[in-house]
Amino acid sequence: MTASRARAVLDLDVTGVIISKHLYGHFAEHLGRCIYGGFYVGEDSPIPNQGGIRSDVVEALRALQIPNLRWPGGCFADEYHWRDGIGHKADRPRMVNTHWGNVEENNHFGTHEFMALCELLGAEPYVNGNVGSGTVREMSEWVEYLTRDGDSPMVALRKANGRERPWRVPFWGIGNEAWGCGGRMRAETYADEARRYATFCRDHGENRLYRIAAGAADDDLSWTRALMQAVSCLGCVAEPRGIFQGISFHYYTHAGNGIAKDSATAFSDQQYYATMVHAADIDRVIAGHSAVMDSYDPRRRIGLVCDEWGTWWQVEPETNPGFLYQQNTLRDALVAGLHFDIFHKHAARLRMANIAQTVNVLQAMILTDEDGGMVRTPSYHVFEMNKGHQDARQVPVHLIDQPAARRANGEELELISVSASSRNDRALISITNLDLESDTTVQLGLRGRPVDDVRARVLTADQPDAHNSQARPDAVVPVALDVAHQDGVLTATLPRHSFATVELQLVQ
Ligand code: AHR
Repeated sequence: MTASRARAVLDLDVTGVIISKHLYGHFAEHLGRCIYGGFYVGEDSPIPNQGGIRSDVVEALRALQIPNLRWPGGCFADEYHWRDGIGHKADRPRMVNTHWGNVEENNHFGTHEFMALCELLGAEPYVNGNVGSGTVREMSEWVEYLTRDGDSPMVALRKANGRERPWRVPFWGIGNEAWGCGGRMRAETYADEARRYATFCRDHGENRLYRIAAGAADDDLSWTRALMQAVSCLGCVAEPRGIFQGISFHYYTHAGNGIAKDSATAFSDQQYYATMVHAADIDRVIAGHSAVMDSYDPRRRIGLVCDEWGTWWQVEPETNPGFLYQQNTLRDALVAGLHFDIFHKHAARLRMANIAQTVNVLQAMILTDEDGGMVRTPSYHVFEMNKGHQDARQVPVHLIDQPAARRANGEELELISVSASSRNDRALISITNLDLESDTTVQLGLRGRPVDDVRARVLTADQPDAHNSQARPDAVVPVALDVAHQDGVLTATLPRHSFATVELQLVQ
């Protein structure tokens, strides 16, 4: 079969806004085997660990340069009481994790363990406070415990638990999904609560909190509007940094018929394309939230934060339905590639995004098993291949020719997606070929700056349901991709269902 053709032109000397590294953020909830058995195995485990945190998982994740990690939920955040997770482990009270599997939570992974994990990963902490079943005082004291120096009741408690210096905590979530598991509130009620809670989450010493109000599901723009109205009040505007600095929304991808309806690995071509249509629709959703925010905040002081995104499939057979453990195939990786192109495009308003979730839950980077095995998923490789976009500047890409769009679920799906960025003497181009049938020869015209060196990699497999396993950990891994470079034009053939990155060394 002959390859389809696509052509794009890149203006390497025209740079746009910075693509915040925080668009590559992560999310770790007390859910299934994300924390226990995923990140954390306890000090006495035969699996190599540092203070109970799995060394192999940390090593694998360090290669992704994770910029921030959100914890402890999700829905779990709104039933988590942080004081239960400090002090001697044997004395920590137990609780029931009612959202996720109704299992016992022993609180052995708490505040100190999370901060240690962030330090090991080199990630900035994003702590999500409890609005649903907590109190303003509880949240306020958690901030004090973590970030205050000198002398105070919470500082004394922290020191008694072995930590002298305060930690730096840049990101703070004011509850989660307040319209649902976070308290089933109406938008206006939550907006008032968010103002109240945010007021008492103080900036202690040098620590500056970026407070994130719990936002909408998908394209519920009325929720975003209510929050924007809430921060546009007279007293709020007078606050130099506003009352909260970010507003979140959540967006999960499925095959268009509701979450958890489809298998992660057994899917038809029609389901594959329906998945991509749904993934691509996040473009419209971000544009909608951004437009609402623009009308209240044209200077873009408040950031949009997609602090949960990813695919949501049926759990793997014979696993606890409340644990959300799903397999991760090449299809998931292509969803990630497509999302990142869209995130880059909206970088002026979208300041942070968090994949749900890092280990063993939903669209994971890492899958572990009980006897110590660990596998990097296809999605992991997209995060690794794309890390050069973190804190680089957008480069305009003009896609001037591409294969005919595919119709799926009543929508048109463009089969080629491209985004690019540059920093100093380097540029990075990401290309996703969603076509299941045809390879595509892509020509990239490079304008504006001469190029010294070109290196490219591609992630693909014979079938879109290919995935990595203990038996075949390298079934889907990036390999070198041939690129011809002549007179400022790059030509590469992207296999069907593939994701590729092209790294350019620019002449200074
Ligand atoms: O990521 C799993 C769950 O999805 C989160 O706990 C919740 O916020 C969302 O509904």
